[in-house]
Amino acid sequence: MKRQNRVLINGRVIDPLSGVDEIREIYIRDGRIAAGHSSGEEIIDLAGKWVVPGLIDMHVHLREPGEEYKETIASGCRAAAAGGFTAVACMPNTHPVNDNAITTRFIVSRAAGCAARVWPIGAISTGLAGEKLAEMGEMKREGAVAVSDDGRPVVNSQLMRRAMEYAASHTLPVISHSEDLALSRGGCMNEGALSTRMGLQGIPAAAEAVMVEREILLAELTGARVHIAHVSTCQSVALLRLAKEQGLAVTGESAPHYFTLTEDAVRGYNTNAKMSPPLRSEADREAIIAALADGVLDVIATDHAPHSILEKENEFASAANGITGLETSLPLTLRLVRSGALSVKRMVELMSCNPAQILGVPGGSLAVGEVADITVIDPDVRWTFRAAESFSKGKNSPFDGVEMEGRAVMTFLEGERVSSGDIE
Ligand code: DOR
Ligand code: ZN
Repeated sequence: MKRQNRVLINGRVIDPLSGVDEIREIYIRDGRIAAGHSSGEEIIDLAGKWVVPGLIDMHVHLREPGEEYKETIASGCRAAAAGGFTAVACMPNTHPVNDNAITTRFIVSRAAGCAARVWPIGAISTGLAGEKLAEMGEMKREGAVAVSDDGRPVVNSQLMRRAMEYAASHTLPVISHSEDLALSRGGCMNEGALSTRMGLQGIPAAAEAVMVEREILLAELTGARVHIAHVSTCQSVALLRLAKEQGLAVTGESAPHYFTLTEDAVRGYNTNAKMSPPLRSEADREAIIAALADGVLDVIATDHAPHSILEKENEFASAANGITGLETSLPLTLRLVRSGALSVKRMVELMSCNPAQILGVPGGSLAVGEVADITVIDPDVRWTFRAAESFSKGKNSPFDGVEMEGRAVMTFLEGERVSSGDIE
């Protein structure tokens, strides 16, 4: 198929890996970034816009196979594209669990032709049961880029040790859902004065940090690459800081809700502010912002977790964990850029370069020869997020009705414009 060549003109190009932050042209030829003009190219004027390597969300739940009423691979990709993501990595807690080559292959085949790339993450243990290692090598052959039992921790430390050894031999990063279940059991929000006042059982910050420290120790023991998912507390940040000072191959992510909201959002028993790990204190929120800025945290990922209204319209303690995030992640991160907490360059590292590097997937760069996955951002447009109008099937967002400033206005996937047809 002959591809449309393009030139993007007048945009502010921010490409951290090339050290570029300037108004310049980007040439697209045959789906890749080219050095100069091509014949028959379409000219797209992006004056006033930012042009960045396609955003990559390395932590989403797409719910297919098995819970297509919550989200499908296609609907999740439409939400991704609308939010400015050209790629997402999907967690294996589907039904069946993605713990085998056939399911990985199914996900890859369902993703073909969707509005974003989909990188499957395979399970660490079969059925996420924490008893027996899944077939990592076979899943990798079908396209898995990492392994994780996300949604629950690997309780057995010996199994996690073996998982890290096995994953390292397949050069797969291990993504840890760090939670000490004995400490968190029965809890549904952050433990503190507010949980007591609300009469809800709390989850102490230590439930996360205890497990983060175990993962760091096992990373040191095994030499595996370990990535800590959804960091929510300042203790976890402090442990990651020490591990990095030791030179360990440990990375970490946090999500927009942890740097935007605190446990206060739970007031009124708002189940759209319930997730695992829970929203924490103002001190935790500030520590996460500082860690995103100074490099202790490497990635902003959404933990996009769509649920149906029924699963959320429940009493707080029994409502499902998780919120959607694909369409609100970039605008919420832009708040940090406007406040001066993050530079634009750092935002692009956190949302594109670093996830590409950690997962070992294409993208994260606008250098000549790279695949032309590109996100165009209007940093100034004011708009209101309406969950009901979201491209995701999940409407469970605490940001429904919230005013935003800035959003993605265009994405290119291998040089092809993801048209409004694909995202409508
Ligand atoms: O809030 C969450 N929702 N946390 C998880 O770890 C899993 C996720 C889900 O799958 O809904
Ligand atoms: Zn998750």
